Amino acid sequence: MLTEVIATRYVTPLREGGSLPGIVEADDFGTYVMKFTGAGQGRKTLVAEVICGELGRRLGLRVPRLVAMDLDPVIGLGEPDQEVQELLKASGGLNLGMDFLPGSIGFDPLAYEVGPAEAGEVVWFDALINNVDRSWRNPNMMVWHGDLWLIDHGATMIWHHNWPTAASASAKPYNASDHALARFRPDLAAAAAKLAPLVTEELLTEVAAQVPDVWLADEPGFDSTDALRRAYVDALLPRAATVHERIVLEAPTEDRPSQAPGWLKERLKPAPHATRPATPSGAKKDQQQDGGAK
Ligand SMILES: Nc1ncnc2c1ncn2[C@@H]1O[C@H](COP(=O)(O)OP(=O)(O)OP(=O)(O)O)[C@@H](O)[C@H]1O
Ligand SMILES: [Mg+2]
Repeated sequence: MLTEVIATRYVTPLREGGSLPGIVEADDFGTYVMKFTGAGQGRKTLVAEVICGELGRRLGLRVPRLVAMDLDPVIGLGEPDQEVQELLKASGGLNLGMDFLPGSIGFDPLAYEVGPAEAGEVVWFDALINNVDRSWRNPNMMVWHGDLWLIDHGATMIWHHNWPTAASASAKPYNASDHALARFRPDLAAAAAKLAPLVTEELLTEVAAQVPDVWLADEPGFDSTDALRRAYVDALLPRAATVHERIVLEAPTEDRPSQAPGWLKERLKPAPHATRPATPSGAKKDQQQDGGAK
């Protein structure tokens, strides 16, 4: 399983992010972007983050380190934002932490050049995991110390939201025309030759073993968490061998509607949370006068 740490301080909510991730410190002195089990997107998003994030890193792609963060909601008691308070209250126990990349900036395809080899590897990987959330609208990549880093694998493996479709999903095409790296002439043949042989049963089993048990428990249709872990391996393994033949890469488009199915778009939609207002000096005092009981 992922390394486990204990959340010690909720620092601030992130300005972006539909699931209201927050910056949280932990007892290992690390600073993490924390994604919460109590968020509307549900725990499968976190399972996808772990399986795909851990797989991507093992394939040599840059994915920040992931940990399981144990949260006692008591650390949010002083949190002034009621929505954050509620999220923390609903998320006691294990949540996901991703190493925070300080000073990183969101990838902008017009401002950062990616070579065909790297673009090919990222597009191939996204096709393998059916990532519908790395479009030019929402690249979910960061540039840090001049390198490209992949984040946010919550909207991948869409078949795990409907397990009976998983077996046929391995033969489904992946339209990459919308992908944030489509414009960089991704070298898919080179990526497939390099990465497909690495995606072995052993590697996928190791990756599936990283997911905390509690996020897999009681999945309808599976009588154990091991059976469910096995189902992820069985779904990903056959796709790796042939996925490069199924990648559709038409002229990169910047105005085509998103390829994500409607029900998933609903899940990806930013929650209607207000961004935390900049706290004017004296605001704290006002809150205390309001009672401020949290
Ligand atoms: N490891 C990280 N280091 C620095 N910043 C990060 C990191 N992870 C996420 N962020 C910032 O937080 C934002 C939201 O993160 P992320 O995309 O993972 O959340 P989300 O709720 O799944 O978002 P959405 O579903 O809206 O794409 C990112 O766009 C990025 O700006
Ligand atoms: Mg995102």
